[in-house]
Amino acid sequence: MIKKLLLFFCHFLERPFKKGEIINDRYQVVNLLGAGGYGYSYLVTDTVNCQTKVLKALRLHKRTTKAGRKGFETEQNLLKSIGHPGFPKYFEGGTYKNTPYYTMEFINGKNFEQLIFFDGWKVSELDVLLIAEDLLEKIEYLHQQNIIHRDIRIPNVLYSDHRIRLIDLGLARYLYTGLNREKDIRKQVNVQADFYGLGHFLLFLLYSNFEVPDDKKEKSWEEELDICSETKQLIRRLLQIDHAYQNCAQIKTDLQKVIHLLRRKNNVVL
Ligand SMILES: Nc1ncnc2c1ncn2[C@@H]1O[C@H](COP(=O)(O)OP(=O)(O)O)[C@@H](O)[C@H]1O
Ligand SMILES: [Mg+2]
Repeated sequence: MIKKLLLFFCHFLERPFKKGEIINDRYQVVNLLGAGGYGYSYLVTDTVNCQTKVLKALRLHKRTTKAGRKGFETEQNLLKSIGHPGFPKYFEGGTYKNTPYYTMEFINGKNFEQLIFFDGWKVSELDVLLIAEDLLEKIEYLHQQNIIHRDIRIPNVLYSDHRIRLIDLGLARYLYTGLNREKDIRKQVNVQADFYGLGHFLLFLLYSNFEVPDDKKEKSWEEELDICSETKQLIRRLLQIDHAYQNCAQIKTDLQKVIHLLRRKNNVVL
């Protein structure tokens, strides 16, 4: 109840930074890129070196709790520790008007929510699997560092220069810190949480090609989607409907098999 009230008041009290506003005599706000549950992400110009960057500031209702501030620190420390081109590079952190923020590399591209719902992208089954392969490479890198992302969703996956970049470590945690009393599969601190997110991500992409039939009868994704049985099986295992994958390598093997199969079917010569 108190939490709900706090959220309600924060919603009215919160004022995002304005266009043109200069943060800490350094970062000039170009525009707001996105507002999620945790942060406001702005496109800014770093006036020290004229570099375009993204500045992510912690939202008011998260600032008011110790856990919220601590979580934001964890997000920064995790991003700092990552040295992989599949993720934005961390630049610097700071505080402005009592708001913690950090800056990172701007990825010039769009997230899959924008691509599917605003740009009307329709992705073929083969392309969905190729995107999955690229995304899996990033997830595998995190898992090798013992990091579980826990928020693999379409707004957190960017498409830039024909490559996949993964952002938003707001919910990411080190593997061994999880108590795993969590019931929600997505929020558990284990590799399967990311596999579950990946499974849903794939369904969103596959549904981009789906035309709603006239009868409007509700059916399951397995009945509705016109995809091969191997892709269905892969998604069933990602979603833990069938026995769960234990690691990224197992998924990679299955993905490559289906990709090979579809390429043969489509008569694509490599
Ligand atoms: N480094 C970046 N480069 C380009 N766009 C970004 C970057 N970081 C965030 N964004 C955009 O801002 C949105 C919100 O950022 P995100 O880090 O996911 O915040 P939240 O934790 O609030 O979900 C993203 O969906 C993406 O479109
Ligand atoms: Mg996000």
